[in-house]
Amino acid sequence: MKTSYSRRSFLKKTSAALAITGGTTGAVCTMYAQATGSANVLALFGGTPVRTKSFSTNWPIFDQHEEKALLQALRSRNWCCLRGNVVYDFEKNFARDMGVQQCVLSNGGTTALGASLQCLGVGAGDEVITSPHTFIATINVITNLHALPVFVDIDPDTGSIDAGLIEAAITENTKAIVPVHLGGFPADIQRIMSIAKKHDIPVVEDACQSVYAEVDSQKVGTFGATGCISFQEWKTLVSGEGGAILGNDQELMRHCAGFVNNGRDPERKKSGYPFPGSNHRMTEFQAAVLTEQYKRFKEQDQIRQKNGRYVEEQLTQIPGLRSRKRYSPNTRITYFYFELDYDHTRFAGVSASDFAKAVRAEGIPISGGTRQYHGGCHREGMLEEHLRSRGFERVFSKARLDHYRASLRLPIMDGLTENKREMISADTKIAFLGSKRDMDDIIEAFHKVVRNIGKLAKA
Ligand SMILES: Cc1ncc(COP(=O)(O)O)c(C=O)c1O
Repeated sequence: MKTSYSRRSFLKKTSAALAITGGTTGAVCTMYAQATGSANVLALFGGTPVRTKSFSTNWPIFDQHEEKALLQALRSRNWCCLRGNVVYDFEKNFARDMGVQQCVLSNGGTTALGASLQCLGVGAGDEVITSPHTFIATINVITNLHALPVFVDIDPDTGSIDAGLIEAAITENTKAIVPVHLGGFPADIQRIMSIAKKHDIPVVEDACQSVYAEVDSQKVGTFGATGCISFQEWKTLVSGEGGAILGNDQELMRHCAGFVNNGRDPERKKSGYPFPGSNHRMTEFQAAVLTEQYKRFKEQDQIRQKNGRYVEEQLTQIPGLRSRKRYSPNTRITYFYFELDYDHTRFAGVSASDFAKAVRAEGIPISGGTRQYHGGCHREGMLEEHLRSRGFERVFSKARLDHYRASLRLPIMDGLTENKREMISADTKIAFLGSKRDMDDIIEAFHKVVRNIGKLAKA
């Protein structure tokens, strides 16, 4: 580590200076920088940054393959999946790769979640246990059914629902549990599944942000009665908008397939509209893009995995930086986001936020701060709007709604308990698609700040 580090640091000093100035002049400047030591001075204090090239790239990435597929769908005149086969082919292919019997595509992750809950029979007056630390879509699909989202506090080490608190939240009205795998990081799904099994409550996994994350070699989204994926443009596998429902229960999946298609029997055994439903179909255009993106995604996922593991391995050798807690030793995170625990006592008292600022000045886009959770979906205005709506007031008694309101106190999520876990985080979906050299820039920026930590502490 030490030897390669000093060689790398030398290379970085020179390459960073070359990147700024270019060519021979760059070499001269590099020598000057080294002679004056400016490459060793933190960029925050006027030194040469480790990196000047941006990590960002245009996203989503596409080329003539997506263009050709789109044109093919256009020219086929089968724009709707009822007449084409691009949607259906993707469903079969994706189900096989994910390791489930069936996949039903929909027009979004939100509608995939909503269809799952509705096909499981969740409805007015029911309760669904979930996490407050998620995108609002997870909650919207519950309240839109006139059911109550019962929020369970989060594990301060991960931000995922605290599985140890779930049992206490179960009542006779609990009809489903919706854990969320956020940012490519699996929730405590095995423990959640065993609690759910004990109480005979179905689980709908919100794996919208975590396609290809795994626990013990099983992909998240395949543990529950259903698992839902989002292909919205900012995710790692994208079609602009789009979603998938995954599952092994044939009858439930038949209902889901019917539900997204206005209640038609997917096997056409029954005529008419035997199922409740709506139109949540994905178009052939979306599926054409998705099919090409999926080929690209598999390759990108491998690169992200290799780079992510390398960077994590290297950075956690720095005393004071630790990998985020995993619920199983055999967990595959997908590095959609990346987080490390940070112990300021090992960095001369420099806070995670100041440390991150110094690394950012070196050209590496990271954030740092206390892992504090405030806000949370249980604090969103939409919730009270629902509780006050005519529909909710008809379904729930005033006493029940008041009791519910009083239960919306979550010590960790509300930041009420002492919870000073500091962390360094980064949006690595794009950054971890870079080269080994790019990753070495990230590592070197951290080392440079560590070498200068005393000066940073005094500043
Ligand atoms: C955790 C989570 N759940 C659900 C969704 C909804 O997915 P979509 O935007 O595809 O409807 C998202 C999308 O951002 C999400 O991040």
